[in-house]
Amino acid sequence: MTSSPAAGAEWARRRSFAIISHPDAGKTTLTETMLLTAGAIRLAGQVKARGESRRTSSDWMKIEQERGISVSASVMTFEHKGLLFNLLDTPGHEDFSEDTYRTLTAADSAIMVLDAAKGVEPRTLKLVEVCRLRDIPIVTFINKMDREALDPIELLEDIQEKLALDATPMQWPSGSGNRFRGVVDLHRDEFVVYQRPGEQRQAGEPTERVAMNGNSITEILTEEELDEVKEGAEVATELCPPFDQQAFLEGHRTPVFFGTALRDFGVRDMLDSMADFIPGPAPLEADVNGKASEIDPGGKEVAGFVFKVQANMDPNHRDRVAFLRLSSGKFRRGMKLKTDSGKQITVSAPVMFFAQDREIADEAFAGDVIGVPNHGTLRVGDSLSESGKIRFSGIPNFAPEILRRARLADPLKAKHLKKALESLAEEGVTQLFRPTIGGDFIVGAVGQLQIDVMRERVKAEYGLDVDFEPAPYDTARWLGGDDDKVEAFADRHKSAMAEDIGGDPVFLAKSAWEVSYSEEKFPDVRFHRAKERRG
Ligand code: G4P
Repeated sequence: MTSSPAAGAEWARRRSFAIISHPDAGKTTLTETMLLTAGAIRLAGQVKARGESRRTSSDWMKIEQERGISVSASVMTFEHKGLLFNLLDTPGHEDFSEDTYRTLTAADSAIMVLDAAKGVEPRTLKLVEVCRLRDIPIVTFINKMDREALDPIELLEDIQEKLALDATPMQWPSGSGNRFRGVVDLHRDEFVVYQRPGEQRQAGEPTERVAMNGNSITEILTEEELDEVKEGAEVATELCPPFDQQAFLEGHRTPVFFGTALRDFGVRDMLDSMADFIPGPAPLEADVNGKASEIDPGGKEVAGFVFKVQANMDPNHRDRVAFLRLSSGKFRRGMKLKTDSGKQITVSAPVMFFAQDREIADEAFAGDVIGVPNHGTLRVGDSLSESGKIRFSGIPNFAPEILRRARLADPLKAKHLKKALESLAEEGVTQLFRPTIGGDFIVGAVGQLQIDVMRERVKAEYGLDVDFEPAPYDTARWLGGDDDKVEAFADRHKSAMAEDIGGDPVFLAKSAWEVSYSEEKFPDVRFHRAKERRG
């Protein structure tokens, strides 16, 4: 949990969160509305518009455009109720669950957006599984109440059953679609008015609140509607566990809000509540000088970890930006930081991401994300600190489910290809394995889209035509255990051995069966499905 902050400590004002949803549930719209609510942008549509102008100017991003998805992640910072919120955008496509996971390692909480007509959809399920790996607290926003919705009780049951999360409604809706009148604020026993009968709500209209047991409620709801919403609220309060801060922080219970992001209803109330209960930066486990320690967000030494690297964010500058989540200390522009493997970097032009723009950051604190431009020095999973002696753990690579052999149309360009594949693997676009025998590289991905992005980028950024042919492998396992045992295994399986980008031994298996068989035959060797980057 967050240690008690010194009064006014800057880090204690930080709230870093991500939004997760199935495509089309309304993540982009909610992002826009939040930024508008917080006054970070003036015109709706800017988030998308900006994204589009970026996309058209960058070749590889055409894939995103064609498929209507967002592959790249960015950070948006805004202030609300005296707090500084960092919204970390997560990629929407399921092939990028690995990328999403990494982004979630930099978030202290998440908002799950559900489409009120659909409830929990497959992608939501997968993303919540990813949140579970770190027990990230989840706030639920049931969106599109201005359309015909499922019964709210059914929606809560869906969360309970499919996600095994206890749901606590913070509000209770009256109707949906044309009959949507607003929500009961269950804590204040007030009705938050969406629109009066016969009126059409305009986005951005201030919301009106009336007491549930006062006279003016009858101007808004018919007797029948009032009875219905009261009964619903009663049943929900009886059936669902009350809000419990601790259970929420541990990731077992989700507070549920109802609204419509498009019509800007319910977003401010959710943000207000979030300011009351979502967590700020917590102490993080790390290895300091070989000893297990906790890094406190209020600590003096500046330290953080790279959770994402992105090339060519700005097509006019062929830059590479490493996204550094700060975990302690007060960062100042121009500081020298060291990676846990001893590389030093002077951070002279750190970038902060505001809603509309990137700006140079003069200072930043635990909980913040800064972009560190570099030429390939920084990799996903790197820890950075003043002493270079802090190593955070927990940013894994996942066993790839698709393995492809990289083949060049022009074999004379092999050196170029090596550089391209290595640099994109360092960014985390795909994984890269160098087989012990033979010269071709094997590229690994969790999903096909990663391979497609890789092909496009190798062409657009390096001018190379490369084919990713099927390779005779089904999956990969990182080997662990005593060195002599691993070596003995590697000797017996030379044709299936490779090194990953960090030089660690990897077994390329032809099938899941071969993995189990090897596990049985070599009990002293460990076959890991995920590898934590260790510098
Ligand atoms: P995503 O990022 O989760 O994929 O969803 P996005 O916000 O792009 O929303 C998907 C579609 O749902 C969009 O419509 C958007 O306008 C609509 N939408 C989002 N929130 C609400 C809501 O509260 N009520 C209603 N009725 N619709 C909502 P589109 O037609 O696909 O795109 P657009 O042309 O409107 O941008």
